Amino acid sequence: MIFAEDEDPFPVDDDCLSSETFSQESVFRLMGQQLRIKQLFGANLGVAAAVWEAALHLCRYFEDYSVELRGRRIIELGAGNGLVGILAARLGAEVTLTDLPLVLPQLQENVSANVPADGWPSTPPAVLPLCWGEDHLSFLPDWDLVLCADIIYLPETYPLLVETLAHLCQNGAVAYLSSKMRREHGTQSFFEEHLPARLTVELVHRDEKQNNNIYRAAKRAEH
Ligand SMILES: C[S@@+](CC[C@H](N)C(=O)[O-])C[C@H]1O[C@@H](n2cnc3c(N)ncnc32)[C@H](O)[C@@H]1O
Repeated sequence: MIFAEDEDPFPVDDDCLSSETFSQESVFRLMGQQLRIKQLFGANLGVAAAVWEAALHLCRYFEDYSVELRGRRIIELGAGNGLVGILAARLGAEVTLTDLPLVLPQLQENVSANVPADGWPSTPPAVLPLCWGEDHLSFLPDWDLVLCADIIYLPETYPLLVETLAHLCQNGAVAYLSSKMRREHGTQSFFEEHLPARLTVELVHRDEKQNNNIYRAAKRAEH
């Protein structure tokens, strides 16, 4: 969701976004693709409804640095409305979109709304529940890329997320994490303390104006 820096309404408590329901469809043009993304505000989706700036930064990073997505096996964590993963699938990746069970109908609806005219170039994106640190072990660790956009904001989930990423990356997958660096959520501590305990972490892009960082993480080389 695009807000001026000083009016970022990212809630500390999700419940404040849950009282009324309305939907908004937005069109995004990214990497030569046109995506129609529905955001169901209210419906208890909390922060999962919106498209967050971090997602757009990650898409632009892939474009600017020519990150190959075609043919890659990709899992997205906390996909929300699915913008990043659906874009990757439109570009030929084999994508699994995951989030909490409550969010899956919105994700599925956006997958259905973005079927290319001549069908998905690879497989249709799968939409599956994955609650960090709880059911990550039901996913085999056979990915090329693990994508995360704006999911570092609940300090109590940081150890669970590290556990999930370490599992998914154990066979060589590279994780890209795009994150608004919110001091109130200790986002920096995730990238400087929690995640480096299990994976190598590298800052690959920073947007100073929007205070958004993109990190690349992977399994440590064995000696
Ligand atoms: C700020 S939204 C980001 C959505 C989307 N990635 C984007 O950037 O537009 C955070 C997402 O993380 C998901 N999430 C929060 N806690 C989670 C957990 N414990 N397990 C899995 N997903 C979770 C939320 O449901 C939500 O979709």
